[in-house]
Amino acid sequence: MQRFQINSYHEYEKAYKDSVENPEAFWDEIASSFLWKKKWTKTLEWDFTKPEVKWFVNGKLNITENCLDRHLEERANQTALIFEPNSPNEAAQYFTYKALHSKVCQFANVLKANGIKKGDRVCIYMPMVPELTIAVLACARIGAVHSVVFGGFSSSALAARINDAQCKMLLTADGGFRGDKITPLKAIADEALQSCPSIEKTIVLKRVLSDVALKTNQVWWHDEIKKVDDNCPAVEIDAEDMLFILYTSGSTGKPKGMVHTCGGYMVYTAYTFRNVFQYRCDRTQRYGREDTRASMPDVYWCTADIGWITGHSYIVYGPLANGATTVMFEGIPSYPDYGRFWEICEKHRVNQFYTAPTAIRALAKNTVNLADNYNLKHIKTLGTVGEPINLEAWNWYNDYVGKGKCPIVDTWWQTETGGIMISSLAGVTNDKPTYATLPLPGVQPVLLDEKGNEIQGNPAEGILAIKFPWPGLARTIYGDHQRYKNVYFSAYKGKYFPGDGALRDKSGNYRITGRVDDVIIVSGHNLGTAPIEDIIDEHPLVAESAIVGFPHDIKGNALYGYVTLKDSDNSYNHDALRKEINQLISDSIGPIAKLEKIQFTDGLPKTRSGKIMRRILRKIAEKDTSNLGDTSTLLNPECVQDIMDNAL
Ligand code: WT7
Repeated sequence: MQRFQINSYHEYEKAYKDSVENPEAFWDEIASSFLWKKKWTKTLEWDFTKPEVKWFVNGKLNITENCLDRHLEERANQTALIFEPNSPNEAAQYFTYKALHSKVCQFANVLKANGIKKGDRVCIYMPMVPELTIAVLACARIGAVHSVVFGGFSSSALAARINDAQCKMLLTADGGFRGDKITPLKAIADEALQSCPSIEKTIVLKRVLSDVALKTNQVWWHDEIKKVDDNCPAVEIDAEDMLFILYTSGSTGKPKGMVHTCGGYMVYTAYTFRNVFQYRCDRTQRYGREDTRASMPDVYWCTADIGWITGHSYIVYGPLANGATTVMFEGIPSYPDYGRFWEICEKHRVNQFYTAPTAIRALAKNTVNLADNYNLKHIKTLGTVGEPINLEAWNWYNDYVGKGKCPIVDTWWQTETGGIMISSLAGVTNDKPTYATLPLPGVQPVLLDEKGNEIQGNPAEGILAIKFPWPGLARTIYGDHQRYKNVYFSAYKGKYFPGDGALRDKSGNYRITGRVDDVIIVSGHNLGTAPIEDIIDEHPLVAESAIVGFPHDIKGNALYGYVTLKDSDNSYNHDALRKEINQLISDSIGPIAKLEKIQFTDGLPKTRSGKIMRRILRKIAEKDTSNLGDTSTLLNPECVQDIMDNAL
């Protein structure tokens, strides 16, 4: 246990050094602090060329025993989960470890009673309510593989994910509250189910109490839980068995179902959670005075949705594996007004607060000093994730929320990495505005030049890669190991390629500079340009299209689409066409992928080999046309001026 917790810079340095010099011994010790049903026989087996990575080989465990049962002796009556509803007028709900354990076991029995067995895939398309966390853990309890699909996705995006994983069951709700709107989840799910033959049963939770009816093979959540008790032994699972599938978009093709396994993911999320946020379950000292309650757990809040990896790793698994008190919030930062986050921080006395730069920018723009109206003195650690944070947003976060006194952890990681890779450890290692700073123990980043050679020395700038495995790495893409190899392990031989560029200052701190592929991050969501272009091209009037990102005050980046019509007849109503194109995108991906601007052009700049020159289009979208570079080699240089003249 000594080892598990890093308390000083010196301990960080030592842990880092050990983790590089002797990774197996290092992770062996960290993993030993968990509850295993059977100890592993080998700590690590790996080969990045195949690629194959296995941690804690032949170890047997159940992650829910580590997240729930293990805490019952010491903290049965401690709050595990705080649920803050969308409406501030609805009461918050508090679940102790005992209560959460009971609910998870009960729902696991519901899954079993409805035919779910170890290895079956269960799709979860639910709002941010406690039953979502319960459903996720109930799957893990019996070794079923959960595939959570974010509630903002459309019916065809949902259907594609269900079909890719061949899910046997769907868990959904009548609807979900989001600010003053209701998302009709059940109606969207029903539409998806028309093309999902693998689904045998759907369980529906009543949340918004709308008037929805059940169809064949659909049952109510509240009816099912009445039929079972809460006694459900945790199934023994191999460390390398699948825990879940979570989809992330790629720069081309369909979404990738990243596969995370039980053992390594648990160890990695728990370890990084504890150390990055410096979460403590047993503070006896608080705000300079002795606390009268024997051991006070910190209250931690991550504002992400469980539909994304941040929610999986740092609302559910990481915190619960540490016996933490974790908050989940159903709503949005602007409802009923932009003070909502701070109201919640005050109400639940939040100690660690973790959110995204896009939320920070929206709050900075709209609250001015709303953060001053609430008592935020309990906050000790601030965190950010999802995209590079700009200095202005960093300063606002530091001044208005942290009051200049809270360390800010800028955490760089990905769906694929399972947990945080590069970040400061709150108050233990130094933070530096706009820098993710140092790699966590066990993480060995390198910077590469275009040719793939490692750049030695500091400062340096290049392509980020990781040269040694860590336990949280996704093991494959569901059903497509070849694609996993192509995307992550083929660009630079023997190294994991995350798709980001970075620079390193003279002290070795990393700053992530952004994507080096055709992925654009909009409001913290990864969007591949090619899949969106494919959808636009399906419009009967469209010949071809190209999408680029451009800077946006709040979203970080927004999408700018250049669209060429088959027939350049100007009598088309362009505004109506723009609406149709965005409707198409919204229907097949979701509203998050809609284009901010759509410019109709007579042609797109192309190289002689026919490749669209996105660099030029990007510059025009960014309104930075002073240096377009050499356009003379283009196939159709004349179109550039025309595009510039009509830029939006
Ligand atoms: C991509 C991964 C990890 C959970 C949320 C996103 C970007 C993420 C940072 C950061 C700069 C960041 C990267 C990465 N990103 N965190 N702190 N600084 N960029 O997960 O959807 O898998 O996206 O988000 O470009 O590759 P994801």
